[in-house]
Amino acid sequence: MTYTTKEARELLGKLPKTDLGFFPTPLYKLDKLSAELGIELYIKRDDFTGSNLFGGNKTRKLEYLIGKAKAEGCDHVFTYGAVQSNHAMQTVWAAAKNGIKPVIYLAAIVPIDENDIKANLLLDRIYDAEIHYIEPLEGESFMDTEERSFKMGEEHIKRLEAEGHKCMNIPVGGADETGSLGYIGGITELYEQADALGVEFDYLYHATGSGGTMAGMMAGRNLLGRSTVIRSISAMEIGRSYAKHSASLSNGALALMGIGSPDEPLVKAEDFAPDDNYYAPGYEIPNEATTKAIKLLAKTEGILVDPVYSGKAFSALLDHVKTGKIEQGSKVVFVHTGGATVFFAEKEILGDVF
Ligand SMILES: Cc1ncc(COP(=O)(O)O)c(C=O)c1O
Repeated sequence: MTYTTKEARELLGKLPKTDLGFFPTPLYKLDKLSAELGIELYIKRDDFTGSNLFGGNKTRKLEYLIGKAKAEGCDHVFTYGAVQSNHAMQTVWAAAKNGIKPVIYLAAIVPIDENDIKANLLLDRIYDAEIHYIEPLEGESFMDTEERSFKMGEEHIKRLEAEGHKCMNIPVGGADETGSLGYIGGITELYEQADALGVEFDYLYHATGSGGTMAGMMAGRNLLGRSTVIRSISAMEIGRSYAKHSASLSNGALALMGIGSPDEPLVKAEDFAPDDNYYAPGYEIPNEATTKAIKLLAKTEGILVDPVYSGKAFSALLDHVKTGKIEQGSKVVFVHTGGATVFFAEKEILGDVF
């Protein structure tokens, strides 16, 4: 059984949510690049989700996550990420705006210079987040450092709860069932706009990290019975269980809406085909194709994509046009997930864009 966009909205409307952004975000055609590439290329501007200059995909997830934290009476929210994490920064402002204390554990991939605090870390400070930096131990990978920070956060929560506080623990990227609801809403909004324009998209491209955005979009696509091929471009190394985990997030989010059952899941791991050919040499490490993609989009359409996430996804889209994986004449939508604060971050992350 499939649902209309109106029915999907009605079901989402029954769940706890707090308004954080400006929706709908714009969806429009990129005329110059479309002509240059021989496709019909549209962009969905989820970098404009609000409520300050630095929107991005996490705002949609946080509407449900912070909505739930408020409904449960939480006075603290905890989350995790790298030092320049977009997700951590957006969690910080979303919590602060709702009178909840944000506590963030940041894995220090790049060394922190106390005399030169910038980009997302600067914003975290402006919003008075409680910040814990976790330096990698010798020989420890980024993933291991992050794992360690999750445990430290959980212990911290236990201490606060023993004192009578109520805390919500938000995973990296806001990637849980509640957060994934945000992109069921996001793709519903996209299809409402596409229907109004009379466009049916063959392909949707976006950057993937924690997998929460991808999980929500796939749940929404299947729920609405659409056939757009979703190509999720990975910004980091992803393990074998990635698609399986995303499918469980999709089905978990749908279950919160009262849809589906464990015997008949609406989303299967095989639905996902995350592409990890474009993130090299590593997370937060720039590459030349991405630098070129950033410059092309900036110079033809005036739009900025970042070197860590959306720039890598856009470089994949360009490569797929070149190699025929996107056929000429296809209707393609690029979901811009934000991340522009990185232009003001450390040179190591930024690369050679200037
Ligand atoms: C700008 C940007 N794009 C895409 C993503 C990936 O989204 P997700 O973590 O939901 O996969 C992130 C995650 O932090 C991000 O900051």
